[in-house]
Amino acid sequence: MTYKSGRHFLQIPGPTNVPDRVLRAIDNATVDHRGPEFGTMTLEILEGLKSVFQTKQPVIIYPASGTGAWEAALVNTLSPGDRVLMVETGHFASLWNKMATRLGLSVQLVATDWRRGVDPAVVEETLKQDREHAIKAVCVVHNETSTGCTTRIGAVRRAIDAAGHPALYMVDTISSLASIDYRHDEWGVDVTVAGSQKGLMLPPGLSFNCVSEKARKASQSAKLPRSYWSWDEMLANNKTGYFPYTPATNLLYGLHEALKMLHEEGFANVFARHARHAEATRRAVRGWGLEILCTVPEEYSNSLTTVMMPAGHDADRLRKMILEAYDMSLGTGLGRLAGKVFRIGHLGDFNDLTLAGTLAGVEMGLELAGVPHKKGGVLAAFEHLTASARAPSRKVA
Ligand SMILES: Cc1ncc(COP(=O)(O)O)c(C=O)c1O
Repeated sequence: MTYKSGRHFLQIPGPTNVPDRVLRAIDNATVDHRGPEFGTMTLEILEGLKSVFQTKQPVIIYPASGTGAWEAALVNTLSPGDRVLMVETGHFASLWNKMATRLGLSVQLVATDWRRGVDPAVVEETLKQDREHAIKAVCVVHNETSTGCTTRIGAVRRAIDAAGHPALYMVDTISSLASIDYRHDEWGVDVTVAGSQKGLMLPPGLSFNCVSEKARKASQSAKLPRSYWSWDEMLANNKTGYFPYTPATNLLYGLHEALKMLHEEGFANVFARHARHAEATRRAVRGWGLEILCTVPEEYSNSLTTVMMPAGHDADRLRKMILEAYDMSLGTGLGRLAGKVFRIGHLGDFNDLTLAGTLAGVEMGLELAGVPHKKGGVLAAFEHLTASARAPSRKVA
C-alpha cells in the first residue's frame, strides 16, 4: 500500500467525516456499563438527544446500523398482515418496503420517478380512499440519500390530518437529522428513525427510535415477534441510565461529545450552514452545465446533491478516477441510478473550505475523465460562499 499524503476526503453522504473531538472521546477506556459513571452519562445523552429530534418524547438508542432502527419501528407497532402505506422515493424507501414485506406486512406502495419527495396530495387521497382504516402506518423517508430529494414532513402530516386518518406516522431521518430542520413533536410523528453516521458526526453503529405516546400505546397490542428491538425493556432500563443489554459504550462517549458540539454551534446555525453549502453546491453543478437529479426546488436536499452524468458517460468511472487522482470518495448511484449519477455529500462536520476542496476535486475530475462540462462551477460556488459569508455565531451551551 503506497502512502498517500494529506487527508482523505470522505464526501459520500454518510458515513461522514468524524471530527477529532469525537474521535478523542471514543478513544477512552471502556467502563462498566452498569456502573454509576456510565448511568450519569447515559441520562445526559438521552436528555441531549431531545433537542436534536425537537421532542419531549423518549429516544431509544440501539447498538445497530440504521436498518435495525427501521426494523424496530415496524416490529414494535404493527401486527402480521397489517397494511402500511409507503412511497418509493428512491433506493432507501424501496429497501424499507422490502423489509416490511419480509416481516409479513402488506405494503401499499406508491411509485415515483425518484426525482422528488413524497407528494402530500397523494397521501391524502390514498388515505381518504381507505374508509375502513386498513392502513395502520404511513412510512416515509425524510431525506432520500439515493436521490437528494427531501420530503416535506409537516405537509405530509397535514395531509394525514386532512384525510382524518388514524394511521401511525413513521419517518426515516437517517440522512437529515442534525443537518436539516426536523420536528418530531410539532409534525406529529409517531416513530422517527435515525442513525449515528451522518449529521451526528459519529462512526456507524448506533441508531435511534424517537417514539410518541401513540406509538408506545400501539406497541402494547402489536403482534409482530420482537425481542432485541423491544421498546418496553429499553425504556424501563433507560429511566435510570442503563440498557437491557450491553450498549456500544465507546460510541456513546462519542455521542456525548457530538451532542455538546451541536449544542455549542446551535441548531439554527447547523441548519443554516447545511443550507448554504447545499446552495453553493447546486450553483457549482449548474455552472458545470450538469443536471441535478431532484426536479422540485423546494425539495432539494441540504445534506447531499445527486448529479446526473451526461448520456454515455459512466459515473463510477468518474468516481474511480477522482478517488485515484485526488483521494476523494463520492457517493455511487444506487439501485436503478447505478452508473448514471454520483452524489456529493455536504453534511456533518463540514465547512467552507471542505466544500471548496470537494468541488475542486469534482471539477478537476470531470476534466480528467473527459466528461463534457463547462468551466467555472467552482467559481460560482465560491461567489455564493463569499457573498453569503457571515461571522459564525457560536452559542456556548
Ligand atoms: C435514508 C436512509 N435510510 C436507511 C439507511 C440504512 O441505514 P444503514 O446503512 O445504517 O443500515 C440509509 C443508509 O445510508 C439511509 O441513507
